Amino acid sequence: MSTPLLEVRDLVKYYKATGFLARNTPPVRAVDGVSFTVGKGETLGLVGESGCGKSTVGRTILRLQGATAGTVRFDGTDLLALDRSALRQARRRIQIIFQDPYSSLNPRMTVGDAIAEGIEIHDLAPRAGIPGRVARLLEEVGLDGSYASRYPHEFSGGQRQRIGIARALGVEPDFIVCDEPVSALDVSVQAQVLNLLADLQARRGISYLFIAHDLAVVRQIAQRVAVMYLGRIVETGPTEEVLARPAHPYTRALLSAVPVPDPTTQRLRIVLAGDPPSPSNPPPGCPFHPRCPHPARDARCSTERPELHQIGRSEVACHHAESPT
Ligand SMILES: Nc1ncnc2c1ncn2[C@@H]1O[C@H](COP(=O)(O)OP(=O)(O)O)[C@@H](O)[C@H]1O
Ligand code: SF4
Ligand SMILES: [Mg+2]
Repeated sequence: MSTPLLEVRDLVKYYKATGFLARNTPPVRAVDGVSFTVGKGETLGLVGESGCGKSTVGRTILRLQGATAGTVRFDGTDLLALDRSALRQARRRIQIIFQDPYSSLNPRMTVGDAIAEGIEIHDLAPRAGIPGRVARLLEEVGLDGSYASRYPHEFSGGQRQRIGIARALGVEPDFIVCDEPVSALDVSVQAQVLNLLADLQARRGISYLFIAHDLAVVRQIAQRVAVMYLGRIVETGPTEEVLARPAHPYTRALLSAVPVPDPTTQRLRIVLAGDPPSPSNPPPGCPFHPRCPHPARDARCSTERPELHQIGRSEVACHHAESPT
């Protein structure tokens, strides 16, 4: 494989407890040794339940917050080691879009000014050329160029997400972290926004880290997928492989919640016992063992942590991934 555009190695992010009890409270191990790569023009889907550390991975890559340990190489440069001015340059190339674009759009700023902001900061167009460029960006995301003079509250959720995408595109990024960009949208609107992201990728060769809590969304957009549980990746591989032959019991449970397109084939819904354990006090051994329904689960599961290892075309962190279920 050619050199990946983004290479994350052993990324760790612990949040220290604050307040007067902090000294006796263990840190939250939000991300606990995560490694993955994303190639040019590729989408990696990052999936898992709420609280497993997906957004922390996204924010740490962008250095919106510091990492506790690890390396993040982007196009050959270690982002975690950059000084302020080098980071500013790199920031143009890596953008982020959020679940709720409304919260990141200033309500008192026109949509046009919001899109123009990044173009101006990075000096990417002469002043006179900016309105035309903003109009073209709006059209590229399927909106009317004249909407530039309107305010965010005048738009629907799907349209606001398109505006968020136009704003990210304005600075000509190579990489976009998409943090649950369709989770708040109706299913029909979700499909439109996913199609838009896929079209932009085909046209511009952008790479995505696409974060979702649901495998159905990732199936539509990602070539590869990584499944997270309690701050770690438990399974990763080509999307069609992981969906057709999920090898980790947690992936199987997540997948069992995804509706099957053909209603005549039933899939048995695996209901996991209990909530995910606290990331400030993760279980010893396999972090999934207190909830694991695998029939081969044994004493080793509660004492020895399984590392990712190759099974078929995927990598799986389970001692019994090859045993029958
Ligand atoms: N700023 C923060 N301070 C302390 N804990 C945090 C902070 N941000 C996230 N967390 C905790 O880190 C864990 C992972 O959170 P997050 O990355 O937001 O998960 P996800 O995006 O998968 O829902 C959660 O337990 C969350 O409560
Ligand atoms: S290592 Fe054991 S507890 Fe963990 S997922 Fe595999 S079977 Fe379940
Ligand atoms: Mg999140």
